[in-house]
Amino acid sequence: MKVLVTAGPTREAIDRVRYLTNRSSGKMGYAIAAEAVGAGHQVMLVSGPTNLDVPDGVDFVPVESAAEMYDVVARYLPKMDAAFFAAAVADYTVAEVSEGKLKKDGEVMKLELVRTKDILGSARSVMGFTGFLVGFAAETEKLEEYARGKLVKKGCDLVVANDVSRSDIGFDVGENEALLVFADRVEFFPKAEKKELARHLVGMLAGV
Ligand code: PMT
Repeated sequence: MKVLVTAGPTREAIDRVRYLTNRSSGKMGYAIAAEAVGAGHQVMLVSGPTNLDVPDGVDFVPVESAAEMYDVVARYLPKMDAAFFAAAVADYTVAEVSEGKLKKDGEVMKLELVRTKDILGSARSVMGFTGFLVGFAAETEKLEEYARGKLVKKGCDLVVANDVSRSDIGFDVGENEALLVFADRVEFFPKAEKKELARHLVGMLAGV
């Protein structure tokens, strides 16, 4: 199968030298990409900036901002059979990026932010994707409820919800634990190396 994976954080420029980002390391998405290649799939990994080695055998497309990630996904998704959206995409970006370096004048500085486009939310409705669609949900409470909301609103087959209030799983660590929320059921995936969760998710492609 042809599989697209998004991974890592995005960087939203403030000026020439500063940006807004988040704590995603890319480990979850890279693990999915590596497992998918290992299982014989043809994999495109669309990744924000990380310090990770690109897994052998993937078609790698590096991006910086949420807008760049949107454009790359919009271009390639229609040709894919399955997609895993593990990236932590910025929900807001800077309204006006300064060309030079912003000067510090005054004690307070206000940045105006505007919403980014929802890549996962556009997969079905705008990009016309009909394959197996897996979203992630980074939550700090009500995991199942919020994940189910995303599943329905964004037309996913599965939403992988992880509790990002915990420091032992989720962002920037080697392990994860998740609630796998499907339309008709919920599965608990106990804490394990991210590659184990990745293997479990990729294994589902056999039944698609
Ligand atoms: O990278 P790691 O350090 O290994 O950490 C893994 C992880 C915690 C980042 C990962 O497991 C995870 O939860 N990824 C999703 C993070 C997130 O942005 O969740 P969200 O609930 O804000 O977004 C919901 C879904 O919409 C996600 O699939 C996200 O990729 C997608 N999204 C969000 C905003 C946007 N503009 N476009 C999107 O596609």
